[in-house]
Amino acid sequence: MARIGILTGGGDCPGLNAVIRAVTRKGVNVYGHAIVGYRDGWRGVLENRTMHLTPENTSGILHRGGTILGSSRTNPFKEDRGVELVKENLKAEHIDSLIAIGGEDTLGVADKLTDTRDVLVVGVPKTIDNDLNATDYTFGFQTAVQICTDAIDRLHTTAESHNRVMVVEVMGRHAGWIAIHSGLAGGADAILVPEKPFDVEEVCEHIRHRHHRGRTFSIVVVAEGATPKEGAETLQSNEKDAFGHVRLGGIGVWLENEIESRTGYETRVTILGHMQRGGTPTAYDRVLATRFGIAAIDAVEDGDFGKMVALQGTNIVRVPLGAAVGELKTVDQSLFDAAAVFFG
Ligand code: F6P
Repeated sequence: MARIGILTGGGDCPGLNAVIRAVTRKGVNVYGHAIVGYRDGWRGVLENRTMHLTPENTSGILHRGGTILGSSRTNPFKEDRGVELVKENLKAEHIDSLIAIGGEDTLGVADKLTDTRDVLVVGVPKTIDNDLNATDYTFGFQTAVQICTDAIDRLHTTAESHNRVMVVEVMGRHAGWIAIHSGLAGGADAILVPEKPFDVEEVCEHIRHRHHRGRTFSIVVVAEGATPKEGAETLQSNEKDAFGHVRLGGIGVWLENEIESRTGYETRVTILGHMQRGGTPTAYDRVLATRFGIAAIDAVEDGDFGKMVALQGTNIVRVPLGAAVGELKTVDQSLFDAAAVFFG
């Protein structure tokens, strides 16, 4: 019997509980291991705050959003004696290996700990932003896209009634996956992503063109990290988190003003914010998260550490953690070109 730790780090995401449930169910019932949950991501490892997980106390959580373990953006590499504390506390709890569920930051820590050769980790890719490399999709992304698409559908009808331009700001710090997918699904008339700095006059031209063709409303989807050609990211706050990220937000409000003043069309902005991360995961994300959880505990059983489980095509595979972190997966040109057919 081994003692296996599990933690959820970074921004929460629908499907985290499905991974925890799958790891625990197979880890205990099939392999006979003990599963130790760490509270609040890497913070719980630094402070040795744990929760014993069993098939019983992880039952009934498959459909629940958030994470029963809690999450944080703590970076042990930025804390005083952080890495030593991680090693000491894992040893004190007799933890043989760890399953870290997270995005670029949490798995970046897992990768660096792997390099120390003292911590055995398997990673599970999580982020609504879908910007992790080496996996076709992360769980949580599909749910976020569905939430945004539902919102765009609702905004469509009110836009139509009032002859308005609706700007919808969605998440996506460095990559426009949510914007492009929800924009495509919702029939957006312009989609603005961080990968492609935009010309605001061109966006206004699309809208004018639509209106000249007899359309009386338009929908513009913008990722929070999108920037105008002549500008920088719009920030909520300059303060950086432990991974060096500032808080983005405000591009939607900026666009609302620019579009209204340049075109004369009445414009309204909706910022979907954390709505996109909350609530129940879609069936797709429950299945993907469950498959990732099973694959992660299988990798632990095989002693295949320093890996991340990943979706490639329809298969769950194992890739080196280093292949997943370091460089973000951004929206490819062909997807953007497909969306652009419907602009203006
Ligand atoms: O998880 C990534 C993300 O969704 C980003 O798109 C966004 O910038 C960030 O989380 C905001 O998270 P928080 O407000 O929790 O720091």
